[in-house]
This record gives sequence, structure tokens and C-alpha cells, in this order.
Amino acid sequence: MIKHMTLRKSLETEKENIRSLHLTAFGKEEGEAVSKLVVELLEDKTAQPLISLVAEQDDELVGHVLFTSVKVEGSKTQNGYILCPLAVAPDFQRSGIGKNLITQGLDMLKEQGAEFVLVLGDPAYYSRFGFHTDHQIKPPYELPYPEAWMVQELRSGVLDSVHGTINCADALSPREYW
Ligand SMILES: CC(C)(COP(=O)(O)OP(=O)(O)OC[C@H]1O[C@@H](n2cnc3c(N)ncnc32)[C@H](O)[C@@H]1OP(=O)(O)O)[C@@H](O)C(=O)NCCC(=O)NCCS
Repeated sequence: MIKHMTLRKSLETEKENIRSLHLTAFGKEEGEAVSKLVVELLEDKTAQPLISLVAEQDDELVGHVLFTSVKVEGSKTQNGYILCPLAVAPDFQRSGIGKNLITQGLDMLKEQGAEFVLVLGDPAYYSRFGFHTDHQIKPPYELPYPEAWMVQELRSGVLDSVHGTINCADALSPREYW
């Protein structure tokens, strides 16, 4: 039987499925914290506007990505986002779902006027999608792996004028997530 994969915005009623997807995908060590974080972000007014996309196959939720709003202190350009978190169900990994969620999310952000997107993640993975470390946007805390703090601009040249420390959603602000 041909399996059909759909990418779409998540629904209000899907938080529990999204939570358990992140719990499974991130495994024992990180799963508890990330699954709690993702639900808190979906309910956090300071994370708005946000884009929450799911990948669904045969009525099963197999992937999710969330982009939430960030501001940069002292910068005129305020239309920024951070990608966090991203998860693909273990049995479905390495089949392009993560890639599709990221690229579709970036396209949607661009359409609605977003100017840059940050991510704290594996450089080997995110550099494939245009994220890089050549920028002057500071995370809220000093990071143990600064090379994991990456950005990509969605409006050409915007990074020249964005310098400063970010303010992210309240739910993403605790030190433990950085
Ligand atoms: C990381 C994760 C989201 C990747 O999703 P995925 O659907 O398995 O990845 P994709 O199939 O879209 O991979 C796209 C490309 O990146 C490569 N890739 C996948 N995982 C990679 C990794 N960890 N490092 C480097 N490259 C990777 C793939 O081989 C693929 O390459 P190709 O286009 O040349 O074939 C997924 O493995 C996952 O959920 N892991 C657990 C949770 C997690 O770590 N999330 C990331 C938080 S920052």
C-alpha cells in the first residue's frame, strides 16, 4: 500500500500527540524536558506568533517542528524566530521528514515576513538547510557549544543590522534549555 505523507499546521487538539512524539524521539535523557517545553511553548502567549507544523502518515503523527517568536534587544529588526524543537518518530527518521518540516516552515515564515531564524542544534544537521554561525546575535546565556548557535536570514542583508541579545518566549527562557 502506498503511504501518504501530509505536512500541515498542528491543531489545538493535538498537543498530547505532539508531547508524546517528542518524548519518544528525544529518548530517556532529554525527552521529559523537551516534551514539557513543547507544550508550554504552544500555550505561551509570549511565543506568538508561532508556526507549528506536523507530518502525518496514515493518520499517525510522525514529525513536528515549532518556530516561536524572538526579539533582539536594541535592534530595529524584530521579526525573528527560533526553531525549537524538532522531532521525527524513531521509525521514520532518515527519510526526509525533518528536512521537509524545516524547509516548509522556512517557506511559510518567509511568506509572512519573517526576517531571520535562529536554531541551537547540531551544526552537521542544520548547516544542510542554510543555518550558519556568521552572525552577531547573542543567546540569553553563555553556551558550552557556541558553534551550535546558528542563524539564517530570510530577508537578504538583514543580519548586517541585527546585533544584540535575544529575548525569547518565557517558556524557553530557563537556563536548562540552553
Ligand atoms: C534530528 C532529526 C529531527 C532528523 O530528522 P530526520 O527526518 O531523521 O532527518 P532527514 O531524513 O530529513 O535528514 C535530512 C538529511 O540530513 C541527514 N541527517 C539526518 N540526521 C542527521 C544528523 N544527526 N547529523 C547529520 N546529518 C543528518 C540525513 O542523512 C539527510 O541527508 P540526505 O538529504 O543527504 O539524505 C531526527 O533524527 C530526530 O527527531 N532526532 C531526535 C530528536 C532530535 O535530536 N531533534 C533535533 C533537535 S536540535
